[in-house]
Amino acid sequence: MVYRRRGAGSSFGSGLLSILMPAAILVGIGACSNGPSSDPEAELTARLRAELPLFETPAKIPYPEDNPPLSGRIALGRLLFFDPLLSGDDDVACATCHHPAFAWADGRDVSIGVGGVGIGPDRVRGLTGAPTEFTTPRNSPTILDAAFNRPFLGDGPSEGRMFWDGRTSSLELQAQAPIRSRDEMRHDAYTAPEALLRVLEDLRSVPEYLSLFTAAFPEDAAEVLRRFGPGNEALVINGSTYSRALAAYERELCTMDSPFDRFVRGDDAALSHSQKRGLDLFFRSGCGECHSGPMFSDYEFHVLGVKQGGAGKPPLHEDGDGTDLGRYLESGAEQDRYAFRTPTLRNVALTAPYFHTGGVGFSPGYADLRAVIDFHRRGGNDEGLAPSEVDPLLRQVELSEEDVLDLVAFLESLSAERLRSDLVDPTVPTTVPSGLTPPPVLPPALTNDFGG
Ligand code: HEC
Ligand code: HEC
Repeated sequence: MVYRRRGAGSSFGSGLLSILMPAAILVGIGACSNGPSSDPEAELTARLRAELPLFETPAKIPYPEDNPPLSGRIALGRLLFFDPLLSGDDDVACATCHHPAFAWADGRDVSIGVGGVGIGPDRVRGLTGAPTEFTTPRNSPTILDAAFNRPFLGDGPSEGRMFWDGRTSSLELQAQAPIRSRDEMRHDAYTAPEALLRVLEDLRSVPEYLSLFTAAFPEDAAEVLRRFGPGNEALVINGSTYSRALAAYERELCTMDSPFDRFVRGDDAALSHSQKRGLDLFFRSGCGECHSGPMFSDYEFHVLGVKQGGAGKPPLHEDGDGTDLGRYLESGAEQDRYAFRTPTLRNVALTAPYFHTGGVGFSPGYADLRAVIDFHRRGGNDEGLAPSEVDPLLRQVELSEEDVLDLVAFLESLSAERLRSDLVDPTVPTTVPSGLTPPPVLPPALTNDFGG
């Protein structure tokens, strides 16, 4: 599978279009001809199966060689994920913005980090400052299925694309970013370059973490002893083990068994009639050009012209003008201005509001799936970019009211029924080793209950 840059489309996508066009015409004719012995539902189902590229979620979670799924490591990562000790003022945990009750996102347009009070949509700013200070420039994505954030369909290694601009290549590397961010976790307790060291020092001072890290990373512990000698055991808590523990937890949060997956496996009744129509419309409307493959994403960068808003992203962030140049900030390539990574659509119904801004400060906003589809009906580009700047794969789609409901129903069929790994505890811990208060204990949106 070769993916080309944005604008060119995937080799797979362009081929698909030529198959679908005649199909769309045939449907029109079929509707009037009213063939004698036909069962329209069975016909629709057969046609979807014959013509559309339907994939289940990838069979295997991709593990890096140095971070296999060890239960002790995953459990340690979970405690770190919920421990506010990772933040400068001991008040924000990863789960503050990626809470299991909100499908490991936070249900907000943009997130409130340091000083905030409450969780999810109810969270409010606690610190004074400019209105956009201590809010994140972008919407918090779910951690669910983040292991698959990479433009690759197989099980082998490949570079990941983390963040809306794909600036980080793995969960391990990503784990060091939030603790450096002033708005997210650091505040003014220390400088960004000092952040990792300061967090590691805090972790080393907690005896329970020392024993958990030692048990979760026996080889690293032995190596530390060999290199630094007795008395330095705490150095097993280092940037590498910290990152691998967090990533080990996050990587297990992969999902399975959505109604769509069951349909792909052959269960014709797993999708309702409306969802099947929506599935058909999804590909006929060109959505699958970018939302392709098993994760419904090419993980490439595209300019849709989503309305900018909120704090914006440095260096322009300082001016508070809300501008976020997206991938361009990373690549410096002209065509990447305002380009963002195609997000997965798996579990998308669980993670409103949408787009990299969550619709902050914009009316009518991007509050639900219908709002996203309305964006496409008006041809995208709410930001009013020059037409030449917008991705050529984005087109205005004509959809009736019924079509919209069907498309929404289809997107809802991508919500998983459960997590696939029994190694991970998806609940919020009631206590964490630092003794600080973890984010509120609320039931997770998904569990890995395999029904005994
Ligand atoms: C204050 C809210 C906040 C906190 C706290 C926070 N995050 Fe995030 N997280 C975000 C936002 C916002 C983004 C998107 C940023 C971007 O794309 O530039 C994000 C992105 C991510 C991603 C990338 C997901 C994807 O689809 O690419 C991962 C993984 C992640 N965070 C893990 C963590 C971990 C681990 C921690 C704790 C060490 C953490 N986050 C703390 C808000 C937060
Ligand atoms: C040109 C590529 C492209 C096409 C075509 C496309 N999308 Fe997207 N989609 C994206 C990108 C890129 C984003 C993120 C944009 C942003 O936040 O700035 C996105 C975001 C979304 C989101 C929000 C997901 C989230 O987690 O916030 C949904 C839902 C969605 N698309 C559905 C659709 C549907 C339905 C269609 C067809 C009508 C479609 N897309 C067509 C590239 C595309």
